[in-house]
Amino acid sequence: MRKKITKAIFPVAGLGTRFLPATKSVPKEIMTLVDRPLIQYAIDEAREAGIKEFIFVTSRGKGALEDYFDHSPILEADLRKKGKTELLDTLKSTYMDSGAIAYIRQHKALGLGHAVWCARRLIANEPFAVILPDDVIAAETPCLKQMVEAYEETPGNIVAAMEVAPDKASSYGILDIKEDMGSLVSVKGMVEKPASGTEPSNLAVIGRYILQPSIFRNLNQIKSGAGGEIQLTDAIAQDIANGNDVYGFRFRGQRFDCGSKAGFLQATVAFALARDDLRDDLSRYLHDIVHMEKAAE
Ligand code: UTP
Repeated sequence: MRKKITKAIFPVAGLGTRFLPATKSVPKEIMTLVDRPLIQYAIDEAREAGIKEFIFVTSRGKGALEDYFDHSPILEADLRKKGKTELLDTLKSTYMDSGAIAYIRQHKALGLGHAVWCARRLIANEPFAVILPDDVIAAETPCLKQMVEAYEETPGNIVAAMEVAPDKASSYGILDIKEDMGSLVSVKGMVEKPASGTEPSNLAVIGRYILQPSIFRNLNQIKSGAGGEIQLTDAIAQDIANGNDVYGFRFRGQRFDCGSKAGFLQATVAFALARDDLRDDLSRYLHDIVHMEKAAE
């Protein structure tokens, strides 16, 4: 039987410079969409996909991220004493089983590929998932779960994929399509951040991956690529050159680029509007400011 995907890597060692000065002391992944940190959305998605072992690749200054997953007995006792059962449930929903989380340091931000490579000994010889917490995906069936289901039908390396506007392609890893089968696309090549006008398609890689352990062997060998970083895209492209299967997966859902300020703000509004306790006030406010802007034009 095919090995189930039970381990996920969360590369969270990036510098988060687009959110300076906040990221001087707050890890980007702790920043909240309404009241839940980005990392909580990623963890919940992984759990729903059947992940049991959570491997964080961290770096200096990410202590708040480790603390976030600790149990909080004092807070818990206080909420219990005051009868705040709903908040107590919210708190407990963030708890992780002892031993389920591992932290590995990436000593220098050498790129996403290098961050994933840092976790190689904890994965050893089995397929695994990678989730980038700054890509938040709102979906009825969580994106990684959709991918695990696709993987059970079609093994190989699978990367989440999404159509992007041609002028945005140079910001992404872009797929060179061999055969388009609908939600799955078989891939014959991949290019990280292609120069404008040279992109092989408009299908971009988004931060969810199911990968084979051969990717670690490729990462052992590849040199730095786009932006001088060790690119995960290049290691996956190498797997195609080695004769292994790589697929793009068009997920069902809305993706927010929470690594950028505009994407983060859009996600904040979308997640707030999805909440019963915030929707009415917020939509009234949005409506009013749009009207005021129009009137001022
Ligand atoms: P980004 O390209 O968004 O970089 O990384 P960043 O450092 O987080 O943010 P900016 O561009 O400076 O604002 C994509 C993902 O890869 C991780 C990041 O933590 C993020 O989840 N990453 C990137 C690493 O873990 N290590 C690296 O060396 C680079």
